Amino acid sequence: MPGGTWTLGDTTVSRFGYGAMQLAGPWVMGPPADRDGALAVLRAAAGLGITHLDTSQAYGPAVTNELIREALHPYPDALFVATKVGADRDGQGGWPVARGPQDLRRQVHENLRSLGVERLDLVNLRMGNAQGRLPGSVTEAFGTLAQLRDEGLIRHLGVSNVTAGQVEQARGIAPVVCVQNMYNLAHREDDALIDALAADGIAYVPFFPLGGFTPLQSGTLSAVAARRGSTPMAVALAWLLHRSPNILLIPGTSSTEHLRENVAGAGLELSEADLAELDSIGTGNPVGA
Ligand SMILES: NC(=O)c1ccc[n+]([C@@H]2O[C@H](COP(=O)([O-])OP(=O)(O)OC[C@H]3O[C@@H](n4cnc5c(N)ncnc54)[C@H](OP(=O)(O)O)[C@@H]3O)[C@@H](O)[C@H]2O)c1
Repeated sequence: MPGGTWTLGDTTVSRFGYGAMQLAGPWVMGPPADRDGALAVLRAAAGLGITHLDTSQAYGPAVTNELIREALHPYPDALFVATKVGADRDGQGGWPVARGPQDLRRQVHENLRSLGVERLDLVNLRMGNAQGRLPGSVTEAFGTLAQLRDEGLIRHLGVSNVTAGQVEQARGIAPVVCVQNMYNLAHREDDALIDALAADGIAYVPFFPLGGFTPLQSGTLSAVAARRGSTPMAVALAWLLHRSPNILLIPGTSSTEHLRENVAGAGLELSEADLAELDSIGTGNPVGA
């Protein structure tokens, strides 16, 4: 499996997964311009051995879930589909917070319907807002998801867009198998959290691993890629796989060509010198300092 494996709850997944958000229309609203192309990307991901997909009812809304269903249903036993709840979409493309018990129950049922399953593999509770993390209690919302899990509608729970304190709070309510936060070569705020989660056997799933809507650009990254005969995006992903064994990748792309290029990063060897140069991008410490 690309990038090796990790066990999420009771399921072994490829560390190199795929994030479906970029398959919806512009700004994650409406259908894709190239529907057949979007279905082809999903089938190519499965064909490359990727067994971990990340999605949400909020993408489109419903668009990426329905594409996943059309491309891959009935799902192979090995396929693990993670979704998230905690926000809706409005007519302007905004992401209004929706985390009341009834909102979460509705969103779980919407995901079940659009993905065509009786139980969701993993539901992440998305905290904060579209601008980032915010302080606040997870107790009521995570408690609601724990109840839905007890009812048999969800197998595993995770949290997203959270502070370390919120992770701890959630863990006091029910087992947390993964934390999905923004992190990449240039945004290293979660370095300590990643190491703490690794020690406890919890996966860390960086969103925007390639920089998101403004993909990473760095002379250092390009130089390492040129030296390795690779591409900047593949190197950025290889660096994440080296960063910690509990990191699972869910890079997004709407292009089969980019998907193949990115998966090649899973097989890339980086030397100590490469890693030190790449580290300097986000830590602000020039190599040798
Ligand atoms: N929990 C949360 O709050 C949250 C928030 C955001 C995202 N997510 C999840 O995280 C996943 C990943 O985030 P993301 O897709 O937004 O960002 P990303 O993976 O950091 O970057 C995707 C962008 O990189 C481009 N790209 C990918 N491969 C490339 C290549 N080889 N060469 C050049 N450009 C390339 C894509 O364009 P092309 O389509 O042209 O390849 C796209 O614009 C999402 O799919 C979603 O599932 C979660």
